[in-house]
Amino acid sequence: MLYLWIALGICCGLALIALFVWLNNSLLTTTEYTVKTEKLPAPVRIVHLSDLHGKSFGSHNSRLVARVARLRPDFIVITGDIIHKYTDKNIKVALSAVSSLSLVAPVLYVSGNHELRGLQYRLFAKQLKEAGATVLDDCSADICGLTVTGLKCSSQKNGAVQRLAPSQAAQKSLNILLAHKPHFLEAYAPLGFDLILSGHAHGGQWRIPFTKTGIYAPGQGLFPKLTSGLHTRGNTKMIISRGLGNSECPLRLFNPPELVVINLK
Ligand SMILES: [Fe+2]
Repeated sequence: MLYLWIALGICCGLALIALFVWLNNSLLTTTEYTVKTEKLPAPVRIVHLSDLHGKSFGSHNSRLVARVARLRPDFIVITGDIIHKYTDKNIKVALSAVSSLSLVAPVLYVSGNHELRGLQYRLFAKQLKEAGATVLDDCSADICGLTVTGLKCSSQKNGAVQRLAPSQAAQKSLNILLAHKPHFLEAYAPLGFDLILSGHAHGGQWRIPFTKTGIYAPGQGLFPKLTSGLHTRGNTKMIISRGLGNSECPLRLFNPPELVVINLK
């Protein structure tokens, strides 16, 4: 009888651990920010998604799309790493998500480092456009009375971001930069963008419980500083999404997937 109780206890413990790991990797959380500005005549609501890495929340990302729809955004931005690798599954998941999201609101997309690892990116970017996304690799789009500029992930160091910076005249309206990697904040901050939206760091992947301290982020190393939240440098704010999926490390701990909502008022 004692062995039976021990076996039952082990089974319950394993089930609880499995539930805990599932919740840490599949429970969608939403973080909402309000950014005050005098540059907009009317409020604008943005849903910011990042780092899906080919993951699906429900069949064809139905849970993710339903959550975004409930948030009623004026437009949606995706800041890269929508795929992990160029596998058929990853491509299907990404295109299906973009196709469904574009029925909710306009989708603006910029590449991350994972899309650019493969030679297929040119074809993939074309497929994203066909699925309904506006691909903002080193270019801008005007939407809802503001300008959104995307920095292609491979253009971090070639001076593109300086060329894309808004002119003095353009700075009279609100300018948002989509840039996958947050750790170039100090380089972006002087360029005249009001708001920068980034991802890439996955919140530090594993977090120390009950703190916002992540363990590791690429480009920042151990205990990285720029993995989530709102950061201000002068007149520029950066909001970093903790992202939705996983990269080389297949698990998140104390760091569930995150959708970000930004209310510009
Ligand atoms: Fe990523």
